[in-house]
Amino acid sequence: MNMSRIILASNRLSVSAQRTESGFSYTPSVGGLATGLSSFFERSDSLWVGWSGLADDDLSDEEQRNVSETLRNNYKSITVSLSRADLDQFYYGFCNNVIWPLFHYFPTFVDYDPAAWEKYREVNERFLAAITSVAGPDDYIWIHDYQLMLLPGMVRSHLPDTKIGFFLHIPFPSYELFRLLPWREELLHGMLGADLLGFHTYDYARHFLSSTRRLLGLENNLGIVRDRNSMSKIDVFPMGIDYEKYSTSSQQPKVREEIERVDASTEGRRVIFSVDRLDYSKGIPNRLRAYDAFLDRYPAYRGKVELVMIVAPSRTEVPRYQRLKRELDQLVSTINGKFGTIDWVPIKYFFRAFPFDSLCALYRCSSVLLVTPVRDGMNLIAKEYVAARSDLRGTVVLSETAGSAREMSESIIVNPSDIDGIADAIRRALEMPEAQQEANNRSIHERLSRYDVHFWARDFMEKLETIVESREDLRSRRLRGKDREEVLEAFTGSRRRLLFLNYDGTLVEFGDRHQETQPNARLLRNIHKLAKDEHNEVVIVSSRSRADLDRWFSDSDVGLIAEYGVWVKSRDEEWNLIEQIDNDWKEIIRPILERYEMRTPGSRIEESDYSLGWSYGNAEPELAAVRKSELRDAVLSLTGNLNLSILEGRKALEIKNSIINKGRGASRWLSRSEWDFIFAVGDDWSDEELFSMLPEWAYSIKVGLDISSARYFLESEHEVRQLIEDMTH
Ligand code: G6P
Repeated sequence: MNMSRIILASNRLSVSAQRTESGFSYTPSVGGLATGLSSFFERSDSLWVGWSGLADDDLSDEEQRNVSETLRNNYKSITVSLSRADLDQFYYGFCNNVIWPLFHYFPTFVDYDPAAWEKYREVNERFLAAITSVAGPDDYIWIHDYQLMLLPGMVRSHLPDTKIGFFLHIPFPSYELFRLLPWREELLHGMLGADLLGFHTYDYARHFLSSTRRLLGLENNLGIVRDRNSMSKIDVFPMGIDYEKYSTSSQQPKVREEIERVDASTEGRRVIFSVDRLDYSKGIPNRLRAYDAFLDRYPAYRGKVELVMIVAPSRTEVPRYQRLKRELDQLVSTINGKFGTIDWVPIKYFFRAFPFDSLCALYRCSSVLLVTPVRDGMNLIAKEYVAARSDLRGTVVLSETAGSAREMSESIIVNPSDIDGIADAIRRALEMPEAQQEANNRSIHERLSRYDVHFWARDFMEKLETIVESREDLRSRRLRGKDREEVLEAFTGSRRRLLFLNYDGTLVEFGDRHQETQPNARLLRNIHKLAKDEHNEVVIVSSRSRADLDRWFSDSDVGLIAEYGVWVKSRDEEWNLIEQIDNDWKEIIRPILERYEMRTPGSRIEESDYSLGWSYGNAEPELAAVRKSELRDAVLSLTGNLNLSILEGRKALEIKNSIINKGRGASRWLSRSEWDFIFAVGDDWSDEELFSMLPEWAYSIKVGLDISSARYFLESEHEVRQLIEDMTH
């Protein structure tokens, strides 16, 4: 791949600044995102845009400059400054009191505060400003996590041609939860600004696609979703770790020293280890209850094991986190009080972050790792533990609701709410035969070493590049700038012009066919004007009935093609049937459609003289998608020798005789004169039939970014109307 720079953007930088007595110190930020990404960051040509970890009103101007400069010069980082008030509403408020609990399935913890939402938008804009101040035209922008979900859309609007990736490090919840957000549509549009959207697991990607379908009405085709001005690929990239770093850690002298110290302190007891950020999503109280139950049920282990539990402080200003901290303190002291003896403390509990060396030593010295979150996007701790065990010993007890459970099925998988189940899992883990441990860990090692964090990032960036290339193929054909001028000049410079204008979704915004999407006065005036020019032949093309077209265009001097080309009407003529068409098939197909209409609330049959349609624009989208493919199969099984075509319209399945198509309808105009300008504009599959009939030099235009045989694209119906208006001047 070409080596453009990568600009990473996330709320936190890879390091956080802290005030010390003598100035400032910079320590690695805690949490999966920072730990996971920093190795990749160090090795790549990249910049990181994010918050320093300090509120700017706690710093003098000079100190702020100081911190920003150090971050820029020593850590390749661009600081986005946030004040206490910003942090209050953006970070503690919206990110950690709305998105975090909702996305981790704690809907009752959510505080839907509109002011916090406003601040979220404002801070995302501040990130936008920081990015635009450093981004060059060839740079890739890779935006991370739930704090910046609006940012991809913002960057897309400001730098339309930029390559944008987005990765969500936490779960994307089921539609049923996501829909609770008052700002759900805006968040989806924001994310869809990215060319590539990555999730840790298939379920999260599936939930996202279900939300875009149900809330925005956007279908996806092999994970590609098209929104307003963007086309995004949704894909799964389970994040890896820096395998090399962990698997070789026990060779480092500092880690070896630590191992000796830990070993000496355990006095032959077996260690059960757990390490998390302080968070209710991590299931720490249940883990303690399970340990309590384990000691109750299996008294022989008393005095023979110890639980070493590290909890790294996090979001300590949120009351819920403070309450959790108190709950943990209490549980630990209850259990230690209940089982402890003069020479044995059941739980060694540390409320602070541990450096890499000590963590690796603890991984190395423990027989069991307990990872039992109630929900966790991925959980890299489980992966780090196995990687650090180059001796292939040790067993992970892993919650089924952690993303990593999808990749580490060799672990003992538990339900995080099943206290007795976890207690039993601890015993099974302690009693796992060594040969079994080795076999399990060997296969996990293989995966971790192949799909490490560098592979993960490369995989993501390569996919991004491929998507951007295919997007650019489409984009280069977008009708704008010089191309648009060329069309208008060709129009002005010619004398015999033929223009085919499709109606729904082209001249007017797409709506259900039974809805009255009438042309407005301005559009009618422009079409009228265009048609009055003796050098122009204007033909309105539609799937609609003759009656609809007559009602709207009988006063204009235009030709009409109705029902996909069944009926044609030249100026000053009556309607003509293009040829005798067999209609008997309708009696066979109609009962099937009626059954599906009944079974799918909100869907309806749309019948024209020579076609039948089943439209589902008002039906529940997920159900409609299932019914649509069932219906297609049912119809197909009957149509083998009926010479019918089944085609997908916008939110509709259309069945018509195969000989009918807009191209055939248009052919009578095409052969009528020696045209020196031919123009056709349309928005769906039925217009493709028209485009393919045109000579190569004709100007064919598709509305919307999509695969098409048209020469150019316009972004919206509005742009079509604008172009037509420009032709009338
Ligand atoms: C998780 C999130 C990260 C976040 C980290 C630490 O890993 O996915 O985005 O940075 O937790 O949380 P904090 O609130 O301290 O940044």
